Amino acid sequence: MSGFVEKPEPLQVPGLVHLHTGKVRELYRNEAGDLVMVASDRLSAYDWVLPTEIPDKGRVLTQLSLWWFDRLADLIPHHVISTEPPEGAPDDWAGRTLVCKSLRMIPVECVARGYLTGSGLVEYRENRTVCGLALPEGLTDGSELPAPIFTPATKAAVGEHDENVSYEEVARQVGAETAAQLRQSTLAVYSRARDVARDRGIILADTKFEFGHDEDGGLVLADEVLTPDSSRFWPASEWQPGRAQPSYDKQYVRNWLTSPASGWDRHGEQPPPPLPQEVVDATRAKYIEAYELLTGTAWS
Ligand SMILES: Nc1ncnc2c1ncn2[C@@H]1O[C@H](COP(=O)(O)OP(=O)(O)OP(=O)(O)O)[C@@H](O)[C@H]1O
Ligand SMILES: [Mg+2]
Repeated sequence: MSGFVEKPEPLQVPGLVHLHTGKVRELYRNEAGDLVMVASDRLSAYDWVLPTEIPDKGRVLTQLSLWWFDRLADLIPHHVISTEPPEGAPDDWAGRTLVCKSLRMIPVECVARGYLTGSGLVEYRENRTVCGLALPEGLTDGSELPAPIFTPATKAAVGEHDENVSYEEVARQVGAETAAQLRQSTLAVYSRARDVARDRGIILADTKFEFGHDEDGGLVLADEVLTPDSSRFWPASEWQPGRAQPSYDKQYVRNWLTSPASGWDRHGEQPPPPLPQEVVDATRAKYIEAYELLTGTAWS
């Protein structure tokens, strides 16, 4: 079982056509034909969009993405046109709205990994590969890889797992030239971001990008970038390969959901329960801490 515990009803704003309710974002088209992306405070875990929101989360993700887009602009064009909420939008949209170029999205989750964990670790333990790429012996949970690798995944619908695929499979789906561009850009952006984060005492273990083509066929960096929802950030001072690393994200939520306190069976039929206040507060604090550490500015 998976999906939305409670499917939200999208707000209607005059002049905007609602296009899609994503797990976290609401997508609209404005009268100029641009995409209006509004990041909600929704949170997903274990393939469920939870019934409890994390206050300010959508704003933190939006502001962090903007900060990164700025720092990557010399490497690749991004999709943001403006941060101005449309006329007539609720006050709550301030800080969580991005007006973006409407792109032809490439249906590949472009993952870069510099460290081994998660689904990469599972595959490595089975056959010493990740997405079919051979890796050296002796790596463990949290090990740094000899060099960053491109480990694409197919984009799954709400409630379904993304599935790791080989580079050859991506090339079959999107063409050899686009596949090569995706790999090159993903690794270039990851490497830049890894270095920026490292200077702040944060390990960027892995991250996911989405790219699209603009009307001229140019490759553009889209969606959100380098947020705790799309990335694994670990405090460098606590990095210790051989165990699960503490991280700046929804770890509190996952720990609570899988603890006896929640009474929830991850593999059962029931949707997850609402989060208790202390889990909400601790999760909000982690997102804000990631923002403040990375950008070096206080959250306001
Ligand atoms: N510039 C863009 N043009 C068109 N679509 C975009 C652009 N940037 C991001 N998107 C799409 O907007 C959606 C963002 O919403 P969100 O991240 O909440 O969705 P998701 O749950 O990850 O995926 P899905 O939309 O499949 O449910 C994604 O589907 C993403 O591919
Ligand atoms: Mg998404």
